[in-house]
Amino acid sequence: MALLKIARMGHPVLQGGARAVDDPTRPEIARLVADMIETMHDAGGVGLAAPQVHVPLRIVVFRVPRARADDPDAVAGAHDGPVPLTVLINPVITPLGAERVTDWEACLSLPDLAGRVPRYCRIRYAGRDADGGTIERIAEGFHARVLQHECDHLDGILYPMRMPDLTSFGFADEVRRVAVGDDAPATE
Ligand code: NI
Repeated sequence: MALLKIARMGHPVLQGGARAVDDPTRPEIARLVADMIETMHDAGGVGLAAPQVHVPLRIVVFRVPRARADDPDAVAGAHDGPVPLTVLINPVITPLGAERVTDWEACLSLPDLAGRVPRYCRIRYAGRDADGGTIERIAEGFHARVLQHECDHLDGILYPMRMPDLTSFGFADEVRRVAVGDDAPATE
């Protein structure tokens, strides 16, 4: 396994659409996924998309730590709580309802920055895992937010592009001081 270099905002690999993976079970994909997981853990992130490591393929890895799985408005039956490390290939997201919530985000491709981003509260997502199996889940809260953030990377979208109000966009250690009562940004 190897640590991969993370592309930062401005690099063209983050700006284009990523290609679908034709066969998730190929050994090269397994190697890439293992390196993405190692890179994400090393960088202290909760999610990483393949374009962030200069590979324009539709692959994301993510997890929801227990400390983040605290949505008090969770609807019974949704996939809430901590989510173990998940590899999602060729993901498709469908919003469930129009309701959105605005909360802090950060990104490994925008080091040290954070901002408040509106995201759908509840989504369904589907895709393949690294063994070629099918994943289909309903997510809300932070889980839904991470998925929307990571899948945006596959379409060349970074979180500031989703911010209707850039007032909250800034260096995390600065904006956190005024973010009393909010969760600190997690890095995706
Ligand atoms: Ni990101």
